[in-house]
Amino acid sequence: MKWPAHGSNPAHLYESLQMDQPECITDFSVNVNPYGPPPSLQANWESWLASVSDYPDPYGQTVTGQIAGLNGVTDQQVVLGNGAAELIQFLGQLWRGQKVVIAQPAFSEYEAACRVYSCEIDNVFLNKGGSLPVYELAAKAHGAAALFICTPNNPSGLAFPIEEIAQLLECLSSSGCKVVVDEAFYDFAGSSTVVPLLQDYSNLIILRSLTKMYAIAGLRIGYLLAAEPLALQIARFRPHWNVNAIALKAAETVLADPSFAERSRKRIAAERERMFQFLEKQGFQFTRSVVNFYLLRDPALEDQKPLFLFLLKKGIVLRHTYNYPGLAGRWLRASVKTELENNQLREALLEWKKHN
Ligand SMILES: Cc1ncc(COP(=O)(O)O)c(C=O)c1O
Repeated sequence: MKWPAHGSNPAHLYESLQMDQPECITDFSVNVNPYGPPPSLQANWESWLASVSDYPDPYGQTVTGQIAGLNGVTDQQVVLGNGAAELIQFLGQLWRGQKVVIAQPAFSEYEAACRVYSCEIDNVFLNKGGSLPVYELAAKAHGAAALFICTPNNPSGLAFPIEEIAQLLECLSSSGCKVVVDEAFYDFAGSSTVVPLLQDYSNLIILRSLTKMYAIAGLRIGYLLAAEPLALQIARFRPHWNVNAIALKAAETVLADPSFAERSRKRIAAERERMFQFLEKQGFQFTRSVVNFYLLRDPALEDQKPLFLFLLKKGIVLRHTYNYPGLAGRWLRASVKTELENNQLREALLEWKKHN
């Protein structure tokens, strides 16, 4: 049986498992903001329809300027993508046939995209406690074209200290190895970003997504930040008009209002804490995530498949971890959703405990 490589699209999961899909499903496998999209998108939606008959601005100049301003970089340091996933494809093309190191477990598209372009992949496994194995990573990445790090990490939700990333960049600064720091979920943590390091390190590439915080995964827009010469090199892979007109309008709108992300972050943090208290009390293990998803497991099971299937039968869809190197099904990933939805998960987990 082939397990789906990503969360979301639960119908596909039920189909691959040859399971009947319950009438009501709550999808904890997708890790977007449970309170989004922002109301401002709905308010403007109809007025954007007129823009679909023309080609979008191929450079997305307005959004690029906003992103540059928000991050204190130049417009030339910003590259827009059809989601961060497309930018990862550009990176695969850039490092075609070369060696790439991935700090695992991490988002599976780094490996998938790099394999398409015949890169040689080397994995380094992260420490359990949520710190980076800086010297092991630096040693492996010497001589490689690039190193991928995901922070806050998908799937654990843990963030690595900026000091450790700075140390890594320093170790690799003369080696030619680029360090990709994927901050797709940084705005859920509300704390540190490695953006200040762009000033000192020309080997740093930062990936960002707008699809997570603003729940616009179906619209697709993301960006990367890097030193100008490197950003220019990556931008060469951009197909003309790669970001559609409505995604550009939506990005302009959501980036102009920082209060939505701030409110979402607080609400999600409160729900996350409530879930953690519950999981602790009920004897589940979990990662102390700082974002909108976390890993959990029943310590009585090595492989969490029985719990995964039990929840699926109840219409509660978690994310399996079979394709996360180093996790191999020993954990499940759940997103933090609304109070009502999180209560559904709590009830199902209580029932699981009663019978196991
Ligand atoms: C860590 C990470 N980076 C990047 C992406 C891709 O995001 P986007 O929707 O912007 O393509 C994802 C999507 O799940 C992700 O988890």
